Amino acid sequence: MAALQDDDIAAFFSSQPDKTSLRLVTCGSASSGKTTVVSRLLSESKVMQAMGTDTAMGTDMGMGVDVAHHIFATDQRSFRVADSPGHEQYTRNMATVASAADLAVILVDAHQGALAQTRRHSRIVAMLGIKHVVLAVNKMDLVAFNAATFQQTVADYQAFAAGFGFATLQAIPLSGLHGDNVLDHSDRMAWYTGPSLVAFLNTVDVRETPARHAFRMPVAWVNPAHLEFRTVCGQIAGGQVRPGDAVRVLPSGMQTRVKTVMAGLNAVPVGNAGDAVMLTLQSEVAANRGDVLAADSDLPEVADQFEARLLWMSEHAMVPGRQYGIKLASQDVTATVTEIKYREDVNTGAHLAARTLGLNDIASVNLSTSAPLVFEPCSVNRVLGSFTLLDKLTLDTVGAGAIVFALRRASNIHWQALSLNQATRAAQKLQVARCVWFTGLSGSGKSSIANLLDKRLHAQGRHTYLLDGDNLRHGLNRDLGFTQADRVENIRRVAEVARLMVDAGLIVLVSFISPFRSERQMARDLFAKGEFIEVFVDTPLQECEQRDVKGLYAKARRGVLKNFTGIDSPYEPPTAPELHLQTSKKSAQACAESTWQFLDGI
Ligand code: ADX
Repeated sequence: MAALQDDDIAAFFSSQPDKTSLRLVTCGSASSGKTTVVSRLLSESKVMQAMGTDTAMGTDMGMGVDVAHHIFATDQRSFRVADSPGHEQYTRNMATVASAADLAVILVDAHQGALAQTRRHSRIVAMLGIKHVVLAVNKMDLVAFNAATFQQTVADYQAFAAGFGFATLQAIPLSGLHGDNVLDHSDRMAWYTGPSLVAFLNTVDVRETPARHAFRMPVAWVNPAHLEFRTVCGQIAGGQVRPGDAVRVLPSGMQTRVKTVMAGLNAVPVGNAGDAVMLTLQSEVAANRGDVLAADSDLPEVADQFEARLLWMSEHAMVPGRQYGIKLASQDVTATVTEIKYREDVNTGAHLAARTLGLNDIASVNLSTSAPLVFEPCSVNRVLGSFTLLDKLTLDTVGAGAIVFALRRASNIHWQALSLNQATRAAQKLQVARCVWFTGLSGSGKSSIANLLDKRLHAQGRHTYLLDGDNLRHGLNRDLGFTQADRVENIRRVAEVARLMVDAGLIVLVSFISPFRSERQMARDLFAKGEFIEVFVDTPLQECEQRDVKGLYAKARRGVLKNFTGIDSPYEPPTAPELHLQTSKKSAQACAESTWQFLDGI
């Protein structure tokens, strides 16, 4: 079938005037017969107008993934079904579309019960706040339409999903292949007295009661041409808004009232959850993309530390301490996982210890963000409670998650403003504080160069300190090894220490392999512009290995020493260091001298 255009889809929905529309996501392992059931739904064209299938790249949650969107209608409702393959490697596709669905149809094979992938999907559906679920027990023809088999499958699933918070869990026995209980009630399962799949989808109530929810609208766009009207646009993420309502712009907290509510070109008396609206505000308040407008009488929370559930969607492990981009509604900041509390066993839900997360792992984590986020727990508001994580370098989506609650320490630890600052402390020492960060392979000469530079600055009367990887690993970082996770933490700690020392007015030299770009960037981000000087000590691996001052390369080659940088652990060279020292062309003394000159010149 030809791919649909957005215009076709809009035209289709507007040709279905007074019908409610329902967004479904289909889930289940590859063998559950998902495709057969979906095609059966579409082919029952006696009562349904099958609109077509859109296999174009979905753009839900801002990522390009292959998801088929099937669109059709019954006399009562119109439907949009997002379907992605059930195989494990497509988990991210399913999670992506689930974030926007009202209801999940979870398929299990009556013969096999819920397999690991179905269970993983179910956990993701629950995590992302879907409250309404159909358990479609498919392939009933293969178990001779046996009631006991159905009942056992349902009982097992109910026990599995007991804590998931589903408001609706409707189990339906069916045969996608033969059509039993898809559209009409099947004579072959007279023992089943519930609705057919279509009958259920036609009537299930997935609406949130607007009265329960206070008004929230993430600001997507502010019209720069209409500053005098103070116009803000966005999609209402909860509650309703009317002209005259008192609202607040968060996180700034500024108060104002709504003057008009526009939907398209028309002023309307009320905007409801899900509507895209343009609001004009009564007083002059600054509102920007990323802010949230909320009912003044009932405000959402603002915090920068959270407990969250997270689905990891990248082949590259999630490492605590590493910085990722976080997108929550229209807010974009930086986040780190400060702790993996546990990883969930997808089958049993058992809590497993984990230091990193791999592809498709689901975990409970603590998150810390670089700036406060306006949020609500996902169980209260899916838009303000779910988020995605992005790789900061490639901008790939690497995780999807849901906020459980804010950590209390977030609101109880405040930055203590001190009277003396870096400038006053550095001025007393007659210098400008800096962090000079040497990176390079083991044996590249970082420490020798840093040591020479340190002596030179000291002799000149400068107040310095040298933080050396080998030395810190004897004390502060004694508990860390050389796995990726430990190196990330190693760099995070030394970067924080260096920042305190720079704040104390010192010139700090850091000599760490610091093999990963993303942590060097994280270190750089801790400092003011110009304060962080990255020095790439560029010595070819072959030469480091030849020198092998500590005999470690020989050990690594023999396989006695694992995870050795340059051998079986990567080194990512800087792309734009402030200084690039090629040690095969210059002595350590000359390299120290060029660094000194560089510092002197700034
Ligand atoms: S980093 O990668 O986390 O930045 P760091 O600079 O602290 O490393 O420590 C590197 C030093 O530890 C090396 O100079 C070397 O002496 C020693 N070392 C021991 N094992 C390893 C290893 N597997 N990889 C790299 N260095 C190691």
